[in-house]
Amino acid sequence: MPTLGFLKKKRTKESTGSKDLDSPTSPTLNSPIAPSLSKTTTGSSLSKTPTAAESQAASKNSQASSTLSKQADSMNPYPQHAYATPQASPEPYQQASHNVPSIQNLIHPANSQSSRPSYQSQNSKSANGGVAPQQQPAQAAPPQVRVTKGKYTLTDFQIQRTLGTGSFGRVHLVQSKHNQRFYAVKVLKKAQVVKMKQVEHTNDERRMLQQVKHPFLITLWGTFQDSKNLYMVMDFVEGGELFSLLRKSQRFPNPVAKFYAAEVTLALDYLHQQNIIYRDLKPENLLLDRHGHLKITDFGFAKEVPDITWTLCGTPDYLAPEVVASKGYNKSVDWWSLGILIFEMLCGFTPFWDGGSPMKIYENILKGRVKYPPYIHPDAQDLLQKLITPDLTKRLGNLHGGSKDVMNHPWFAEVTWERLQKKDIDAPYVPPVRAGVGDASQFDKYPEETEAYGQTGDDPHGGLFPDF
Ligand SMILES: Nc1ncnc2c1ncn2[C@@H]1O[C@H](COP(=O)(O)OP(=O)(O)O)[C@@H](O)[C@H]1O
Ligand SMILES: [Mg+2]
Repeated sequence: MPTLGFLKKKRTKESTGSKDLDSPTSPTLNSPIAPSLSKTTTGSSLSKTPTAAESQAASKNSQASSTLSKQADSMNPYPQHAYATPQASPEPYQQASHNVPSIQNLIHPANSQSSRPSYQSQNSKSANGGVAPQQQPAQAAPPQVRVTKGKYTLTDFQIQRTLGTGSFGRVHLVQSKHNQRFYAVKVLKKAQVVKMKQVEHTNDERRMLQQVKHPFLITLWGTFQDSKNLYMVMDFVEGGELFSLLRKSQRFPNPVAKFYAAEVTLALDYLHQQNIIYRDLKPENLLLDRHGHLKITDFGFAKEVPDITWTLCGTPDYLAPEVVASKGYNKSVDWWSLGILIFEMLCGFTPFWDGGSPMKIYENILKGRVKYPPYIHPDAQDLLQKLITPDLTKRLGNLHGGSKDVMNHPWFAEVTWERLQKKDIDAPYVPPVRAGVGDASQFDKYPEETEAYGQTGDDPHGGLFPDF
């Protein structure tokens, strides 16, 4: 069984809460791109009246969540406080009624102009060769060469509020003093990284992020360090976490879950082609851009692994049985996690959740019994059964056809993958943000850091992070 302290926490608590950006030190300020919200969809609306089964399940949810009993309803493990306070406004995906999620979006995409604690131990057999990745075909933007070493310092930015916190530090909204644009800067405390034995992972995080370029992956612009902290400058993804949207919505309609799952599938396909395992898929790490497309952030556990590795890391709810059982594993763990993610999007809870105790979760994962609620579409259930299987010779994504087997599954039949890749399919939900002005309204509020950044002086860990 894994050591508890080594794993990231899956959040159960509710919160309140582009490529069009150039490098933070670029002197040019492009005109802000207004979100394209005008698309009307004609197809079946996903904000339709719930079916009898759905209503029943929803009322079951509210009953279960109204009790403080620790004995969770297996179909609704989150206590009341895990959900958004019911609001006068409609569910989030209904707010953008001009752009309601529609299966038609997936079949006949419009010509869009737009666009929990985790740890481990590293025993990879493979060397990290530092091989240059093959780049995906560029999108509309001209190819950019990102120089990510030694380019920035703290004085290039004005630090603003915290957007998220994690095990080793926090992520801030910042504004570049050069081009006035907004970015997100992940700040990691060196002492904490060392204490948690995350030095190699942190160096990997930087290296992996620098290598990747994909429409659904976060862009890293550069890194720097001072005597206490490491800093990673990324694009600020304005729409907030998919986690927040999911908790506010309780669960997503089938086509909405399909849309997000399809974007994640393309990103996993890209990463795996480069022999990168992501290892921390969960809604907390999936951000929505201003148009509602996904960006995967947090490469804290991403690793270049051509064959097999043994490191125990991730987030309990999302761990594959081969990881829990401390066996060697490979990319197949990401396909398992995709199954857990799809399940959580469709149901509002994870399949092995059990009162919040990681040990119980591990036991459940190893038992491998998944109870599929009746409202899950049969195609979705079929895909989930093929992803959430301990048998690696049967797990979709891990078979001869690789990720193509996942993409060709009937649940994804309507998805036009090439268009999705180009963001040529309208997202089901457009976050209500003011683009380009540092609008962090979609993010939870956190207590701010009290220790000053930019300290000079004693730096006992400086030599451990040569790439920052
Ligand atoms: N580029 C970004 N833009 C906006 N918010 C971000 C960005 N990167 C991370 N965040 C926010 O910060 C949180 C923590 O960042 P993450 O990299 O996931 O750290 P950890 O490894 O500690 O989980 C995320 O869940 C998200 O809410
Ligand atoms: Mg994270």
